[in-house]
Amino acid sequence: MALADIPDIPKNDTIGDDSQRKSDHINLTIKSQTLANEADNRFYYEPMISGFPLKPLEATPFAGKLMKVPIWVSSMTGGHLASGKINRHLAMACKEFGMGMGLGSCRMLLREETYFNDFDVRSIIGDENPLFANLGIAQIEEMVERNQTDQLRRLIDRLKADGLIIHVNPLQEWVQPEGNIIKHSPVETIERLLELIDFKLIVKEVGQGFGPKSIHRLLQLPLAAIEFGAFGGTNFAKVEILRSSTLKQELHQPFVNVGVTATEMVDLVNDMVLSGNKFVCNQLIISGGIHSYLDGYYLTQKSVLPAIYAQASSFLKYSQGDYAELQQFVTAQIEGYKMARNFLTLKEPKRFQ
Ligand SMILES: Cc1cc2nc3c(=O)[nH]c(=O)nc-3n(C[C@H](O)[C@H](O)[C@H](O)COP(=O)(O)O)c2cc1C
Repeated sequence: MALADIPDIPKNDTIGDDSQRKSDHINLTIKSQTLANEADNRFYYEPMISGFPLKPLEATPFAGKLMKVPIWVSSMTGGHLASGKINRHLAMACKEFGMGMGLGSCRMLLREETYFNDFDVRSIIGDENPLFANLGIAQIEEMVERNQTDQLRRLIDRLKADGLIIHVNPLQEWVQPEGNIIKHSPVETIERLLELIDFKLIVKEVGQGFGPKSIHRLLQLPLAAIEFGAFGGTNFAKVEILRSSTLKQELHQPFVNVGVTATEMVDLVNDMVLSGNKFVCNQLIISGGIHSYLDGYYLTQKSVLPAIYAQASSFLKYSQGDYAELQQFVTAQIEGYKMARNFLTLKEPKRFQ
């Protein structure tokens, strides 16, 4: 019998759901074709090994705390009308699902109190989940030069944060109309800072990632983690180019497309570790262009160093409306990650020493 000859089953058929399902199968078959060259070649699918309910995730140690899931909310916002609600929703989700969170740049809190409430989410996220403040390398350089690093301690105490994330973004600052030009190499500034502070430090990029020389230097520092902020997702140099004059856009657009992807960065770190280097920092937050839990699963499994994965723009998308939307998004992330852990193995497994 040809497909076209099979009679349609009426929608309100008394046979019930099973029959409707069979009808759907017939109607959707043509739309459901896959092509061999569309396969996600990162994984082997292993349907023979696991069953349901899915094995739960083990707690992930991070910066002296335990996260229930290996997922981090990347630094984003604070200081305008919508930011307070976004941050509160993100902190609620971190509390509910056991994730960690980086606050958006807290620079304005160094000058004024107006927007303090936007950032003040410790009571929401709970003491058990990691929460980090965030500042740019330009502010850090200025404070180190002026001997004002005690301001950092005060900021962390006020926010009851576990430490500070420094975003290093020379390209963004260079293309930004009101950007700050840093005078010293960021790694020297951070080395100087590390001698002056007693709190945990994370260093990240904002959409361009880090090349091998930068990664190598960062891994030698006593950091709580390196967050990639890799190329392939939201890109802050591009954001700033779009905010500048048409002439500047024409002249500097090509530079925006320079960067290191999260996959390249994991490969670079793996090569450095597996070639026998001993590093002080041994925690990664893989972020920048993590479009789904499959990307997160692939890269965290591939990494030889302990790694969690992070997203910014995806969380932003679901944190602006009802909290229920964010709950649905995070639940899907976690269930998808668990499904991947139970049924997928990497085609190119992590290479143990
Ligand atoms: C709206 C928005 C604001 C951001 N603000 C900051 C910031 O203040 N400090 C920072 O370190 N990164 C900031 N980022 C960069 C993110 O933390 C992250 O590195 C980058 O967006 C890449 O992640 P994604 O591809 O998942 O969006 C921001 C990102 C977004 C989308």
